[in-house]
Amino acid sequence: MSSIGTRTFTGLWSLRVLVLTDSQIDEVQPQAFFSLSFLEKLDLSWNHIKTLPVDFSTSLTALKELRLEHNNLHYISGYSFEYLDNIEKLDLSHNQLVSVGPGVFRGLSRLRQLYLHNNRLSAVQQGSLDMLPGLEVLQLSNNNISQIDTDALAPLYSLAVLVLEGNNLHHLKFKTFISLHTTATHIQLSGNPWSCDCDLHRVFSKILRVRHLHIDDYHNVTCQDPPQLAGASLAWVDSQLCIAETATVLVITVTVLVTVVAAVVMAERNRKRNSGKNWDTESQTQTQSPPS
Ligand SMILES: *[C@@H]1O[C@H](CO)[C@@H](O)[C@H](O)[C@H]1NC(C)=O
Ligand SMILES: *[C@@H]1O[C@H](CO)[C@@H](O)[C@H](O)[C@H]1NC(C)=O
Repeated sequence: MSSIGTRTFTGLWSLRVLVLTDSQIDEVQPQAFFSLSFLEKLDLSWNHIKTLPVDFSTSLTALKELRLEHNNLHYISGYSFEYLDNIEKLDLSHNQLVSVGPGVFRGLSRLRQLYLHNNRLSAVQQGSLDMLPGLEVLQLSNNNISQIDTDALAPLYSLAVLVLEGNNLHHLKFKTFISLHTTATHIQLSGNPWSCDCDLHRVFSKILRVRHLHIDDYHNVTCQDPPQLAGASLAWVDSQLCIAETATVLVITVTVLVTVVAAVVMAERNRKRNSGKNWDTESQTQTQSPPS
């Protein structure tokens, strides 16, 4: 194992590309990349890095591509990427990230591709994707995401591809996706343990009707629940999911109708009975009234 020490690259200030992939690196010390202010590509993939120093990006203002995939990152400080003003591609896939709090990607206004697949994320939190106006690709597959906050995706005006395949999603809210104000977004949602009910059917059919949203793998979206639908494609069972609900509505409607009709009939009968009584007691008034 090795460590990238403080100011290791001092003097190499004009360096544009630095590849340190598969180099048994397990530690990056503070100011490790000090003075590399022209560096455009840094590849630290396939190492054993557990954390990044808070000042990791201080000199890396020219960096366009940062590769950190296949490391051992559990957590990223809100400051580590602070100065990556020109970053376009950031690969953090195949790490151990459990969450990326609000602030980690804040201000990466040139970022176009963010790879976070094969981590252990459990939610897409509100605020975690703020101020990423240029983000086009967000790869979140093979995490453990069971929740997406309603407004979490709203700031992503340029999002063209959103991959949520292989997560832990049971339900979705339509609001979460309709908040995406893009021209066209392709979404992948298969490989999740969907709870197929009438609600889910409605959400998917609403999304499918929105012109700028495309669920690419809709025919591969399969149910986990209820057990009798396990493995079935949502597209297949789609129209049947609301039958039970429709039946319930029908039963209620019929019951209400029958009650109303019965009430009307009873009322009519009572009226007749009363008018019969009236006929007996006030026959004179009755003869004057017009025939009904
Ligand atoms: C995934 O998230 C659920 C809670 O939603 C948790 O119980 C489970 O342990 C998580 N699995 C992994 C592999 O982290
Ligand atoms: C659906 O799943 C099959 C089998 O896993 C795969 O070959 C196909 O590419 C998938 N289609 C889409 C649109 O993802």
